[in-house]
Amino acid sequence: YQLHIKSFFDSNNDGIGDFAGLISKLDYIAELGVNTLWLLPFYPSPRRDDGYDIAEYKAVHPDYGSMADARRFIAEAHKRGLRVITELVINHTSDQHPWFQRARHAKRGSKAREFYVWSDDDQKYDGTRIIFLDTEKSNWTWDPVAGQYFWHRFYSHQPDLNFDNPQVLKAVIGVMRFWLDLGVDGLRLDAIPYLIERDGTNNENLAETHDVLKAIRAEIDANYPDRMLLAEANQWPEDTRPYFGEGDGDECHMAFHFPLMPRMYMALAMEDRFPITDILRQTPEIPANCQWAIFLRNHDELTLEMVTDRERDYLWNYYAEDRRARINLGIRRRLAPLLQRDRRRIELLTSLLLSMPGTPTLYYGDELGMGDNIYLGDRDGVRTPMQWSPDRNGGFSRADPQRLVLPPIMDPLYGYQTVNVEAQSHDPHSLLNWTRRMLAVRKQQKAFGRGSLRTLTPSNRRILAYIREYTDADGNTEVILCVANVSRAAQAAELELSQYADKVPVEMLGGSAFPPIGQLPFLLTLPPYAFYWFLLASRDRM
Ligand code: BGC
Repeated sequence: YQLHIKSFFDSNNDGIGDFAGLISKLDYIAELGVNTLWLLPFYPSPRRDDGYDIAEYKAVHPDYGSMADARRFIAEAHKRGLRVITELVINHTSDQHPWFQRARHAKRGSKAREFYVWSDDDQKYDGTRIIFLDTEKSNWTWDPVAGQYFWHRFYSHQPDLNFDNPQVLKAVIGVMRFWLDLGVDGLRLDAIPYLIERDGTNNENLAETHDVLKAIRAEIDANYPDRMLLAEANQWPEDTRPYFGEGDGDECHMAFHFPLMPRMYMALAMEDRFPITDILRQTPEIPANCQWAIFLRNHDELTLEMVTDRERDYLWNYYAEDRRARINLGIRRRLAPLLQRDRRRIELLTSLLLSMPGTPTLYYGDELGMGDNIYLGDRDGVRTPMQWSPDRNGGFSRADPQRLVLPPIMDPLYGYQTVNVEAQSHDPHSLLNWTRRMLAVRKQQKAFGRGSLRTLTPSNRRILAYIREYTDADGNTEVILCVANVSRAAQAAELELSQYADKVPVEMLGGSAFPPIGQLPFLLTLPPYAFYWFLLASRDRM
């Protein structure tokens, strides 16, 4: 469960969410049925990139509380069986970070200057793409104090650290140890493909970048064996695979599956399973002790970097007709507005998220169907305050509405008076309660998290069907059949399941038994946008 402290709950009514507020809402998160919290950056920062512009690594932004609050939060989360993932943003810092201030004043070539990447001209590494296309013209920015250009893959106020300087890696490992010593369970490695620059390359995924990751992992293995590294590498599957490392995995334990995400939306738009089955086919095996992290939405734009130009145009036209919804190479909308509040489609995509191979990541508020505000700058429109109740400011804060860190959503369809935790908690049919039930069902079966995946190939391409299968150490096997109708019309499909002849498909949400599987193709009909999860049970166990 991914959240921003600033937008979750404000305990001191200054208009900004804080650690104490988050602690008071931990029961809500635990009751949802998730097991891990991923916190967006909460460090001192000018917040020109919502905290990814870090000005001090080993501290808490005073707006969010103190180090003591952070410590208390970790303890309280652990008490409820929740693990904590924080951000390790090491590609860049804020230009306000003392390392950068020192570097720009230091002598050329000195160790202090070399904490960052400098050049006398802005043509070096010209084969490198610009990521924040809507704001940046170049990956170089002139620094009048240093009298040189500095390198940045993101905003021009975020200089990239220079990992060719061994002091940088040492300092970064110090930061990592600081948070692990405090009790953090995992670290999301932000923007990890861009650590190293080399002439004549596109400066992504370089072997030397992987060497840095191996050094970071070695530190974890030596001193923190029960902690986890999660790679944010927005790359194609074959370029993401190396972030798990070699052999048993000597880099990250987990990595986000970026290409799968837009293809779930694509399948829905095209009413065809092909985009999903195609990317699953291209997804390489990963070491047995590693795991994908999968997601539908997060705090950023819905990135369309990992699709072809034609696919991007198709998705933009379908999901972001309003150009204000587009930013960089993506779409700044939340899940519910992307799907026009269509419960069937929200449930369908969520069912895919919860049943595909990998650990599902939920973005705060999407469990309610929260809306967004595309009139806010950058990606702030998907980072608005959590909607707790119909009270002032959605129950997020009792501050004057003008003081709030971001305005809450107030439109008639998605506003806090309509969409909020309090109302949905009392409504047995709410999206919130549906999500809770889905998470509870998912947790009963290990096959979802650990099982293998095999896609079936019914001739009806509007039907996506796959088998998740897991055998535990005692030799007990769980088989789950997932079937989804990605079309707006009712569909029938014939599934070749003869290898499971005699098994009885038991629908997992309602518990009803379907006719046993035989030698002939198994006939299923599905209403528009419907999905089924079946446990294939032995007849004698029925
Ligand atoms: C984060 C973004 C951020 C960028 C640059 C990312 O990958 O997820 O929110 O803007 O890094 O810091």
